[in-house]
Amino acid sequence: MKRTLLTLLCTLLCASSFADEGMWLPGLIRERIGDMRSKGFRLTAEDVYSVNRASMKDAVVSVGGFCTGEIVSDRGLLLTNHHCGYPAIQRLSSVDHDYLTHGFWALSDTEELPAEGLFVRILVRMEEVTDRLAAGETAAEIAAAAEREGTGYRAAVEPMYYGNQHFLFVYEQFDDVRLVGAPPSSIGKFGGDTDNWMWPRHTGDFSVFRIYASPDNRPAAYSPENVPYRPRRHFAVSARGAEEGAFTMIYGFPGNTQQYILSDAVEYVQHRSDPMKIDLRTQRLDLIAAAQEADPAVRIKYAAKHALIANPWKKWQGEVIGLERLGTADRKRDYERRFAAWAADKPEYAHLLDSMRAAYAAAAEPFFIAELINETGRTIELALLAEQNLLRRRAAAAGTPWSEAKPELEKQYLKLYDDYDAALDRRLAKCVLHGLAHYYPGGMPRKMQDEIDRAGGTIDAYVDALYDRSPSVSRETAEAADTAALAADPVLRLRKLFSFGPEGIGRGMMLRRNLSDVPSIERWYRPYLRALRAFDPGRAFFPDANSTLRVAYGSVRGYDYADGEYHKPLTTLDGLIAKDNPAIYDYDIPQSLRDLHASGDYGRWSALIDGRRTVPVCFLADNQTTGGNSGSPVLNARGELIGINFDRTWRSTMSDIEFDPELCRNIAVDIRYVLTVIDRIGGAGRLIDEMTIR
Ligand code: ARG
Ligand code: ASP
Repeated sequence: MKRTLLTLLCTLLCASSFADEGMWLPGLIRERIGDMRSKGFRLTAEDVYSVNRASMKDAVVSVGGFCTGEIVSDRGLLLTNHHCGYPAIQRLSSVDHDYLTHGFWALSDTEELPAEGLFVRILVRMEEVTDRLAAGETAAEIAAAAEREGTGYRAAVEPMYYGNQHFLFVYEQFDDVRLVGAPPSSIGKFGGDTDNWMWPRHTGDFSVFRIYASPDNRPAAYSPENVPYRPRRHFAVSARGAEEGAFTMIYGFPGNTQQYILSDAVEYVQHRSDPMKIDLRTQRLDLIAAAQEADPAVRIKYAAKHALIANPWKKWQGEVIGLERLGTADRKRDYERRFAAWAADKPEYAHLLDSMRAAYAAAAEPFFIAELINETGRTIELALLAEQNLLRRRAAAAGTPWSEAKPELEKQYLKLYDDYDAALDRRLAKCVLHGLAHYYPGGMPRKMQDEIDRAGGTIDAYVDALYDRSPSVSRETAEAADTAALAADPVLRLRKLFSFGPEGIGRGMMLRRNLSDVPSIERWYRPYLRALRAFDPGRAFFPDANSTLRVAYGSVRGYDYADGEYHKPLTTLDGLIAKDNPAIYDYDIPQSLRDLHASGDYGRWSALIDGRRTVPVCFLADNQTTGGNSGSPVLNARGELIGINFDRTWRSTMSDIEFDPELCRNIAVDIRYVLTVIDRIGGAGRLIDEMTIR
């Protein structure tokens, strides 16, 4: 009786707490369409995904495999985030044409700039191939056969539920993608690292590209003969916006979640991994910020590095707080206790949890060390430079200098030095080696201590000796050194110690994205997930994000930030102007935006908000998203584009492990702000003319 009551209670409570959770496979969206429609969606499963006719999936693209984008015209016009287009915009920029700083707008097709190396993929179809694999076909054979079906086809077989099922994904890949427009960073990155992962937000995080195809509309390598791609489908844009409570859906390529991991794994993240990484990065960021403060040149050189270090650093802090607040580890332990009771009389599963716990116990320490290596010695740039100098010299000696044979490598190499400050790097090296001694179980590892002892016994003396002697501290000294001197650089020894191989200070464990991805642990998740689905049939299972195409849905929604403090789901140009401050780099907007606000003449894309006429800038919704969803279309109930997803709030970042519908929010840039910037700041009205505006 008690048990039944408990189960009933859990069905009620647990079910409601899973309300808008989920990243669903578009090919199986029929199973969710009833729920979607009950929440306001007006279209059908066939509209979302179809192999037989044009559907929404034909307008969603993977951008370079790390972000998402959406097609918004019948001429292949593509929207994604500014931070997704960033590497391409940077590569196309030079001192004379600094598109990152000043923005870029192609005023005709011929001005559009080929973004070499950037590709997009559109899903042709997906299908389950679990049975074909069981019948003996290999994943490689299945993919290869699919790739022969069409020009530019790329295929992959992806595991779902830890390999309990496999799906084939067939994509059409386009390699001729051109930059069409980008706002200045002061709009596209407004708020910088300060506002990153935060709400209220005023970032115009978008950029514009175009897909080009051969004259017969097939994927083709760059050619001046190529023409704008004619997509099967593009998204119409809604200029009406969406009220709080309105249905939203996100169609994109989320990268990685781990919804099903054991409490052991949660505790590892929360108590060991995240705190160590946060602490070490706090120290590094403090050193970088101080150097940036002291020297404007260093500020510019280290801006991108600071952003790369700070983005996960800030996310992890939110994650720890979120896991604590939700009590995820306790809840999971409870769930596991009930699972164990259920499994006790099932020989197949009875010992499963014990095996998993033992695997975690064995792998946690070596994996922690792998993560520690990655956060300490592997961040020392001098060691990387020394390695690069030697490789580059050897390539030159072999008659294949990078400058001719590998221009991309040469460019990266030069950039490394352009953005390098040896004095700061020396301080950072000392910092991370102290961090290593602090976190390495039992103190500084023997092999490293031997090196330090040889240099006088202290970490600082050892690092000073390295930086005083290494020819790689500057490009000039590296170029002046002979090959023998480059090869004898003692910092190369440090590089070796911080490799994951047998010569290193690790315990032979490779670094992986998560502890649970270590093969000795991961292998148990396949039977565990199979068991869970039998144990908990009422749960709405969806496969963890793995960079395959997914649908998430929910609604535009604010949240309770603190007692008595509700965060509304919409920000406006007025709020952006209130933050504007020419004295603070991250908040210094272009004069043209100030002028636009001062004129009050916003044009077609303004809205009446709380009785004021203004331009909506960003909005919140409760769709489940993660890294990789950046650039995803945010769609309304009619499948029209209302925003471009680019972030989550700080306190929702534990959603990669546990999603909380009360608190988890994704952040999108409102399409009306995007249109305003294109039109009024970029003067690129021709792009708006080719969109379908509703
Ligand atoms: N937090 C967002 C995402 O994870 C945006 C990152 C880019 N912006 C920045 N200021 N670093 O990737
Ligand atoms: N900003 C992330 C991205 O780049 C999205 C997120 O983590 O919410 O994909």
